[in-house]
Parts: sequence; C-alpha cells; structure tokens
Amino acid sequence: MGLKLKLAMVASCRRGFSMLSQRLELNKLSINNVLERMILSYSSRLGKLILDDILKLSQLIKAHDVTTFRHSLDVALFSNWLANEASLPQKEVARITIAGFLHDIGKTNIPAVVLNKPGRLDESEWELIKKHPQGGVLILSGYTWSYDLLSKIGYHHERVDGSGYYGLSGEDIPLGAKIICIADAFDAMFSLRSYQQIKPVSDCCMELEKNSDSQFDGELVNRFIRVTKKVSFFRR
Ligand SMILES: [Fe+2]
Repeated sequence: MGLKLKLAMVASCRRGFSMLSQRLELNKLSINNVLERMILSYSSRLGKLILDDILKLSQLIKAHDVTTFRHSLDVALFSNWLANEASLPQKEVARITIAGFLHDIGKTNIPAVVLNKPGRLDESEWELIKKHPQGGVLILSGYTWSYDLLSKIGYHHERVDGSGYYGLSGEDIPLGAKIICIADAFDAMFSLRSYQQIKPVSDCCMELEKNSDSQFDGELVNRFIRVTKKVSFFRR
C-alpha cells in the first residue's frame, strides 16, 4: 500500500470515528489508534471496504441502542490490548479488534427496552438475548471480509467449562472469542449501567480471577490483569 493512500485512509478513519465516538478525549484517541493499526494491516482495497462497512454497521448499532454502541467501542479497545498482550500476529489482532467492535451487532435484532431492562429478564426475553451471537453471525455473513470474524463473534459467550450459550469448552472455543469474552465481561462491570454502579478496576480484576478456568481462560485473565496495570486508561 502506498504511503499517501495509507495516510488518506488513516485520516478518513480518524474523521469517521471522531464523528461516531461520544466518548472522552482519551477514549477517542485510543479508538483512532486502534483503527489506524487495524486498517494498515489490511490491503488498501480491503481496508477501505471494511472501513466503509464498519462505519455503516456502527451507525446501525448506535441508532438502535447507544449503550451497546459505547460498550462495543470499549470491547474493541480492550480486545485489542489483550490480543497485543498475548503477542498475536498483527493481522489476527486486527481481526479480533473488529470482531470485538461488532461482537454484539446481533443485539440490533432485540428491542432496546429488553436490552436496558433494569429488572430480571423473563424466560422469553432471555431466549431472545441468547440468540444474539448467532444473530450477529447471520448479519455479518453477507460481508465478504467477515469470514475470519464469524467464529469469534458467534462464540463470545462460551465458557471454558462448557456452560456457555452453545456448550463449547476449552480448546474448542476460538482464541479470539475467549479474548472478546474477557473484554466484554470486564466492560460490563467497569461501565455504568441502568442496573449497577461502576466497579473499581481492582474489583473487576478480582471477579475475573474468581471465574478463571471456569468462565474465562486463566492465562488470558492473567494477561488482561497485566494490561490494566500498564495502560493509563485504567487509572481513573
Ligand atoms: Fe454479547
């Protein structure tokens, strides 16, 4: 890819995400850095195609439910940091970052009142929620670039002990899905929701450790805790 084209794509990525992100300045900068790396790891034609599609998909998520949109931005960031901490090849880091951003796109099939319901969900609402990973796979399977992302999105609610949505366990769960699962769970505790206060970083890490080797991959939990000690974002 020529340098001029790379710079133009990075500039276009910055513009796109500045418009979309309503987060704090620090978070916007981090998101731009993440996307910059992501796009540069693809060929120019594919990178531009993915960027255009992702901007459209992000508008779909944001229009449906702004809480899911903000959560998606955070999960993309945390997945990116964890994938880098695990020393994965940059192409795989890019795929995991994009999959992290789109992991809950299947929730656009679920009414926002159900997604943000403060009380307990009834059985039929739970059935709807449990369909969102495969709903996401269905939405994305029409995009030619999504092939390497689908298993990461489809299995992001699997648990290493086999008690997740679809019963996959241990090594059968794709590594990218395990990474997104940790990023997803951490952000769910670390963000203000209609039903909970924000937990301190140390409490979120303790909760991850408590569920190591049952819900989460233990080695990845250790790596994620290392990330929270290194990255200034978590010192708030
Ligand atoms: Fe999810």
